[in-house]
Amino acid sequence: MGPGDLSESGLRDHVFPLFSRVLARQPGEIYLANHSLGRPMDAVEDDVREGLAHWYAELGDAWDAWMDEVSGFRARIASLIGCARPDAVVPKASVAQGLRAVLNSHPTAEPWTIVSTRGEFDSDDAVLKSYARRGRASVHWVEPDADGRFDADAIIQTIGAVCAGVSGPKLVLVSAVFFVSGQVLEGLERVIAAAHIHGAIVVIDAYHAAGAMPVEFDALGADFMVGGSYKYTRGGPGACWLAIHERHLRDAGPTHEETLATLDTGWFALADPFSYARSEDAPRAAGGDAWLEATPAILPFYQARSGLELTLAIGIERLSAYNRKQQDVLVAALAEHGVRPINDHPRGAYVPIGAPDGPPAVRSLAEQGVDVDARPCPSGNRWIVRFCPDLLTTRDELERAAEIARGVLA
Ligand SMILES: Cc1ncc(COP(=O)(O)O)c(C=O)c1O
Repeated sequence: MGPGDLSESGLRDHVFPLFSRVLARQPGEIYLANHSLGRPMDAVEDDVREGLAHWYAELGDAWDAWMDEVSGFRARIASLIGCARPDAVVPKASVAQGLRAVLNSHPTAEPWTIVSTRGEFDSDDAVLKSYARRGRASVHWVEPDADGRFDADAIIQTIGAVCAGVSGPKLVLVSAVFFVSGQVLEGLERVIAAAHIHGAIVVIDAYHAAGAMPVEFDALGADFMVGGSYKYTRGGPGACWLAIHERHLRDAGPTHEETLATLDTGWFALADPFSYARSEDAPRAAGGDAWLEATPAILPFYQARSGLELTLAIGIERLSAYNRKQQDVLVAALAEHGVRPINDHPRGAYVPIGAPDGPPAVRSLAEQGVDVDARPCPSGNRWIVRFCPDLLTTRDELERAAEIARGVLA
């Protein structure tokens, strides 16, 4: 395609052919659920077959190639999120698994004091509530305003009010981009700074940021970040990650008494797993490998390869700029039909539109060939229907989707 801005004609010539299978799926369907499940490249099947072929041909020796694939995944995610050390990216099967690894990393059994928001994804919400029910955390939830928006200053105020004077472990969990409304949390740097002043560690849920817009993990300074491949990087389920800030990595490997050595562990986190040597203190590997667990699933990392390579090859700035243009086209077309998005502030990769009830609206749109989804607004007074274009979405599809939306959402 060459350098410069992306164009629909360039994408048609050079990128659409890489998606021939998924594009042949249902002629006429307008797929705008890319914020949920990203569309797979044709290459996914060959990549997964490659992983399996190592097993058939090499049996136990397949581990060399398999571990190279996992290392490739870690390096690609590190590059995607602005993290200098690939070993600081630890593969996880889900975001929930990454969050639990952090919650299980404090050297004392004292309960966590946690500040989070009502806008976190259901997985994070369920994990925090489960820890709270067992008395292992007290969680202070920041509420949204009447429009369902979260304000960095309200989060900072809660951190100050809740964490001051607390001596036990403290943690702040927030999204970089909220999953229901697509709101970008402006002032995230200030939230991180306030948490650190009060001795709290910070976990950023970047699922709707990484792959959708530039992310600078090292520069941001958060202690941890979680995300995954299901959506914007087209990797399907199972290839998620936990990124750990360098300040928490120990080159000699952490001891069990040290801060933040997770109990979510297994033999792959040992200093020398294949020596099969046993010792009472089970020394951990150096750096991020100390956060690995046990024998990992391998095929999800093959499955995630092509989408990440495409994202990195095109470049996140170009992808995100093209997505903005598509959103502008969609918003303008919706306006012509009397439909307005609910969030005019900086937002992630999709256009959110309010609806009194989500499921019937989504069903009606689906019957007319528009594939979107809806989630209840955290302020509790309505639903939000999410429209997310991707590289394969044409201008004509956006205009047709807006016309169809008129009958359902205007
Ligand atoms: C913000 C956010 N975090 C996490 C997830 C996925 O969580 P998990 O990997 O635990 O299923 C999603 C999925 O939709 C999400 O939107």
